[in-house]
Amino acid sequence: ESYDMGGHDTYMHKEICEQPDAVDRVLRGRIDDRFSTVHLGGLNLDAREARGIRRVKILGCGTSYHAGLIGAGLVESLARIPADAEPASEFRYRNPVVDPDTLYIAVSQSGETYDVLAAVQELKRKGGRVLGVVNVVGSAIAREADGGTYVHAGPEVCVVSTKCFTNTVVAFALIALHLGRIRDLSVAEGKRIIEGLRKLPAQISEILETEDEIKKLAAQYADAKSMMFIGRVRGYPVALEASLKLKEISYIHAEAYPASELKHGPLALIEPALPTVAIVPDDELLEKNRAAMEEIKARSGRILAVAHREQEKADHTIVVPKNEDELDPILMGIPLQLLAYHTALALGRDIDKPRNLAKSVTVE
Ligand code: G6P
Repeated sequence: ESYDMGGHDTYMHKEICEQPDAVDRVLRGRIDDRFSTVHLGGLNLDAREARGIRRVKILGCGTSYHAGLIGAGLVESLARIPADAEPASEFRYRNPVVDPDTLYIAVSQSGETYDVLAAVQELKRKGGRVLGVVNVVGSAIAREADGGTYVHAGPEVCVVSTKCFTNTVVAFALIALHLGRIRDLSVAEGKRIIEGLRKLPAQISEILETEDEIKKLAAQYADAKSMMFIGRVRGYPVALEASLKLKEISYIHAEAYPASELKHGPLALIEPALPTVAIVPDDELLEKNRAAMEEIKARSGRILAVAHREQEKADHTIVVPKNEDELDPILMGIPLQLLAYHTALALGRDIDKPRNLAKSVTVE
């Protein structure tokens, strides 16, 4: 690929920094203030069909699967439709029950990932309705799906996905809001989410301004052989994605766990040499997350928290601006992209082309 790097040393850095503009693009022209909803004509779902959906099943691979996990949470909380996400590759091989009242959503940056495409084809063969949440316009998955939405992140060159992940999650917030407003989400709630969405680009810029600080933190954690990432409910997919990003580009082993599961096993790993990154949003689980940090501290584990204010239990806190609870995962992912980036840079890795990985896996 020969897109201009625009003064950045790597495409990854360029793409991380493009996120305020990218998010602005996925929102543009879609918000309807009059009815506190969004227009997503490409979904090809009328109000009656939208009301008939009993479940939402989201399928994707890698980073797109993680975006789908956050998406499922958004659909469930805003539209109150049971929703979950699953790796597309696994779904296809377990002979899933294809249900006419389930809305299937395939997520893919490239729109060409074979495992996702094959899952879409299998679903369609069995009469399922499949939408695509895709970045590349006119790609195979976009063509194969019954409708969907483009995430408008612009070209992403670095093998690991950053801006496309963020835009995909924002696209899911739009889908969830759209479905929610057709179903039981009130005007006031719709307005609250719309106001939150509008704040995102400026808040992401604010986070990007703290890059020097994150770079210093990365230097302190780059000697780790392994890292633990924890979060709860909305924070857990953020932990999964941050751990994936770190292993992909720095080659440091990383695990992600729901903070609530620590006591059921991973706590045995905690010692000073295994730092933990804790996702600690100011939501109803704040105290629970603090208790998990206390457990780690009691075992002399080092903690880097990502939170909306300094956390005393943590050795370091990356403070990110507060948005609506439902949208906070979008913001909390951004500094962790920079953390992975600067860790990999400190270790001298080939960031845009990590070993053994491809941008798009078009074979099984
Ligand atoms: C490859 C890439 C990942 C990406 C995954 C899914 O494995 O290395 O970064 O998340 O494919 O790609 P897609 O284009 O379907 O989102």
